[in-house]
Amino acid sequence: MDHFHYRDGELFAEDVPLARVAVEVGTPTYVYSAATLRMHLHKIQKAFAPLRARVCFAVKCCSNIAVLRTLVREGAGLDVVSGGEIHRARLAGADPSSVVFAGVGKTDAEIREALAWSRDATAGVADGPEPAHGVIFNIESEPEYMAIAAIARAMGVRARAALRVNPGVKAGGHDYISTGAAENKFGVSPAHARAMLARFGNDPHLRLSGVHVHIGSSILDTAPYVETVRRTLEIIDQAKNDGVVIDTLDLGGGFGADYQTGDAPAAAEYARVITPLLQERADKGLRIILEPGRAIAANAGVLLTRVLFVKVEGAKKFVVCDAGMHTLIRPSLYDAFHFIWPASVSPQHEPVRRAERPDLPGLEVCDVVGPVCESGDFLAKERALPAVARGDLLTVYSAGAYGAAMSSRYNSHPLPAEVMVDGANFEVIRRRETYDDLVAMER
Ligand SMILES: Cc1ncc(COP(=O)(O)O)c(C=O)c1O
Repeated sequence: MDHFHYRDGELFAEDVPLARVAVEVGTPTYVYSAATLRMHLHKIQKAFAPLRARVCFAVKCCSNIAVLRTLVREGAGLDVVSGGEIHRARLAGADPSSVVFAGVGKTDAEIREALAWSRDATAGVADGPEPAHGVIFNIESEPEYMAIAAIARAMGVRARAALRVNPGVKAGGHDYISTGAAENKFGVSPAHARAMLARFGNDPHLRLSGVHVHIGSSILDTAPYVETVRRTLEIIDQAKNDGVVIDTLDLGGGFGADYQTGDAPAAAEYARVITPLLQERADKGLRIILEPGRAIAANAGVLLTRVLFVKVEGAKKFVVCDAGMHTLIRPSLYDAFHFIWPASVSPQHEPVRRAERPDLPGLEVCDVVGPVCESGDFLAKERALPAVARGDLLTVYSAGAYGAAMSSRYNSHPLPAEVMVDGANFEVIRRRETYDDLVAMER
């Protein structure tokens, strides 16, 4: 599952004791394991190798360029959703031909950036009738198609595009991260997709020759993928009848992660149901793309936080930490579960499984809360933990995805530091912000 483990009661990331990181870098700090990032990427790449699928890591979930660089070096493409993420992808050394550009609201400037990057990277590359070396635009609506086509024409470049279809499949761990149902803002209906593919599928400037779906996140069941692939293949077949060859199928992300031990299916489980549906088409040249984020990054990162106070009021015990909703918003926003445990424990309290109610002696129930002035500022509620005291170090597990990337400066807390561990070494990959950083853009 990951490379965070106890040795004689001390938590290590690979070969680095986390207490050392906390002393040298301070808290709150996100710590990533390079070995875990690579492990999860490799598992997905291997599981979908028979389809020759390209795995494009969803930058939004963990966008630090050192994380992206680690994955790009291992053959990952990237899924970006903004000009800022394109900038990160470039800094991480990604090739534009391995990048998909999604997002429901692309600005003209962002579209130009993606087109210019593709053009510059492919200068002198002969790509025949197709601009095979550029970013793939994942297009969410007809007006967006029109805007990108007009900009491409004005710049004198050709581009590739896939149409995001909303297949009408509801899936995902929370309403806010379910995207494939008809009422969501994403993509176009299958009927609209047929009309758009027929109209723009052979456009010389912006050939709409791909189909993209992304039905949600934290999908712990493989069945919604089967239904989605079936519905998508119907659209591909209809397009063929209309004279349009679809060459790319992007299945989006959404694979689950183990927030508790054993939560999520393995990559091989998803592949077991998806591969047979696509094998023949992939063998005939259909390019398959996946956009996993959480399944690669969630368990590759933890959040280290220091206990500021232990406060007891009546029957209630609060463990007040220096990390809160500003550092990790998932518990407040989605009611998400993160396993939390002290970084230093007695041998009897080394957790065997990560679970909401660990079966260990001598635990005390508490709320783990942050310093922010909101009752919604918590990391865990009614959680059983070994007794902790002021100054202790807590580890919030599975925080690598949608953790640092969603952190904020609310209550004027500087953004946390980020650290990458690789074997026995660690490196600060984002320094902690200072008070001067906090106000640097103000006057
Ligand atoms: C279009 C798209 N692709 C991929 C992802 C990544 O999802 P996950 O992290 O669940 O794999 C998202 C998440 O929001 C998304 O919107």
